Amino acid sequence: MRLMIMAALAVSVLAANATAQTATTTPSGADLFGDRCSFCHLDGPGGQGPNLTGVVGRKAGSVADFGYSPALKASGLVWTPENLDKFLTDPGAMVPGAAMPIHVPDAATRQAIIGYLATKK
Ligand code: HEC
Repeated sequence: MRLMIMAALAVSVLAANATAQTATTTPSGADLFGDRCSFCHLDGPGGQGPNLTGVVGRKAGSVADFGYSPALKASGLVWTPENLDKFLTDPGAMVPGAAMPIHVPDAATRQAIIGYLATKK
């Protein structure tokens, strides 16, 4: 299990490096996700945050093997692009008690990340 996580991490780091080399001045959603999110949101189990593959359209708090905060589990939210935009702006304001510590104050950055999340199927 540990090895699989390491391998997944190595692959995502390599992928992030590969895209960074071709990036222009505007970082892509994939790069932004790699820099700001993938640290906790691994592409497999075992991360500090839940796996975000397929998150767009998914019910909040629904990854079976992840220990969510009671607040997020009980939120009844569905992760539409609009809800993701609001959540990423200030998770604790949208879902008081939510345990994600990251804020993304810049709207264009949020849009790029949400666009990338929509491709993670
Ligand atoms: C320091 C670790 C950490 C980082 C970095 C982080 N998150 Fe999270 N994220 C979490 C945790 C922990 C949760 C679960 C929150 C809860 O249970 O209340 C979470 C939950 C989420 C959820 C809800 C998922 C679900 O299944 O309901 C989304 C969406 C999300 N994060 C997106 C992001 C994005 C996009 C980024 C990068 C901008 C990011 N996170 C960065 C820790 C992190």
